Amino acid sequence: MVSRKGKFITIEGLDGCGKSTQLAKLADFLRAQRMDVLVTREPGGTLIGDRIRALLLDSATSGLAPTAEMALMFAARAQHLEELILPALAQGKIVLCDRFTDSTEAYQGAGRRLGSGPVLELHRLLCGDIWPAATVLMDTDAALSVSRARRRNRGRSSVHSEEPNENRFEEESRAFFERVRAAYLEIARREPDRVIVIDARGTPDATHQAIVRALEPRLNLRAKTG
Ligand code: TMP
Repeated sequence: MVSRKGKFITIEGLDGCGKSTQLAKLADFLRAQRMDVLVTREPGGTLIGDRIRALLLDSATSGLAPTAEMALMFAARAQHLEELILPALAQGKIVLCDRFTDSTEAYQGAGRRLGSGPVLELHRLLCGDIWPAATVLMDTDAALSVSRARRRNRGRSSVHSEEPNENRFEEESRAFFERVRAAYLEIARREPDRVIVIDARGTPDATHQAIVRALEPRLNLRAKTG
């Protein structure tokens, strides 16, 4: 049995909600407090996970069945837990993970309409009782987030054609992302002790402050020093 003395924190939200910026700011803040932080993401985080990510996110991947998509998300997750997350937690690290099972419940469960039941059942089978100590849900308007994400990816692919194509989900419809957002908010209602909803429509600095304030009691953070 791996001891889990570190803290597992996840960050969730729609494509283009500003998660990566906030994750980097939070990691800097925690490191400035001399905390040992590991930043990682899903799907990905390991060599095998990154290969699964490439397949899942490439818009050239066509005809992938929703159930196969869900299974691949969990395949990457199982590898990630075993190879990276659990060992880091056992070493007492704070693991900051960009997306986890809530993404599967929102995107595959609601977006692809597979339902929450199969997602939570696969989680139980493959991940046991491993859930984050806290999850930051960055809530934004679906239309705004997705148009931001699409713009970012268009810019990326025209300037750096050697970069991987990660557009497959961003090509989904507005209705798809409205379902994803509603599912996220429903998870937050179901698990208020774990999931903290942050309004992410303000400036990056305002959002960062809100995230730090929300995590303070859970991480025993010291007030910001000069
Ligand atoms: P991101 O790394 O830019 O957040 O992109 C990952 C994409 O993969 C995003 O569109 C959400 C999607 N995704 C799922 O559909 N299900 C999952 O379980 C995870 C982890 C991600």
